[in-house]
Amino acid sequence: MTRTAIVSALHDELASVLALMPDEHKQTVGGRDFWVGHLHGQDVVAVLSGIGKVAAATTATLLIERFRVKRIVFTGVAGGLGVGVNVGDVVLARSFLQHDMDASPIFPRHEVPGYARSRFDADSLLTDALELACERMLHALPAQLDVATVNAFGLQAPRLHQGLLVSGDRFVSTTAESQTLQRELPDALAVEMEGAAFAQVCHDFGVPLAVVRTVSDRADDAAHVDFPRFLREVASRYSGAIVAAMMA
Ligand code: ADE
Repeated sequence: MTRTAIVSALHDELASVLALMPDEHKQTVGGRDFWVGHLHGQDVVAVLSGIGKVAAATTATLLIERFRVKRIVFTGVAGGLGVGVNVGDVVLARSFLQHDMDASPIFPRHEVPGYARSRFDADSLLTDALELACERMLHALPAQLDVATVNAFGLQAPRLHQGLLVSGDRFVSTTAESQTLQRELPDALAVEMEGAAFAQVCHDFGVPLAVVRTVSDRADDAAHVDFPRFLREVASRYSGAIVAAMMA
């Protein structure tokens, strides 16, 4: 049976995935807890990615080499960069770039040395499957959210965006920095801290990767929204529903 890794960026999200697993047992490797079991009858390993590119790369490598997963699905949150990518929307990555990679003038800005490229692709088949799961979730779930939650975050009917996701070892929380990213990478939809590291490791090992992110903030001066509350009341519920729909 194909073993799937379900990777969450944060505890609340992992909890919503573990709630779907009836028989998981824990294996600790490299200081990380890997939850091995089943989800809708499929062989699954669920784990927290850890925050940042190095933690993500270690987690991805362990999943592939130690746990022998054959595909990786990542759910988390991100800061919106693209026009119209609003809080509560969902971003599905079709490609990845490390926005803080800069070995210039030896290599062009953003190019990953040794790879002759700055962008890595998501697996198209796995991402298509995740797209269907997102559409199903977005159809059903937002209407079930609390009115208080909807009002607290000014949520509107959520939209699904697909394209470039950029990653770096920085929580982007100033308008100046998000404007710089928007200028340098005009097609970037959203920014987070792990996706492009997973993509590079998955490229190295030939393992399919799909990443979906709920937009928790606009990566600007207001990015200090009630992050824990957003995770608990919106993002973790989206993640759980997307994973459940994808593995159905
Ligand atoms: N994850 C969620 N919001 C983010 C932001 N503004 N910057 C980096 N990672 C994020």
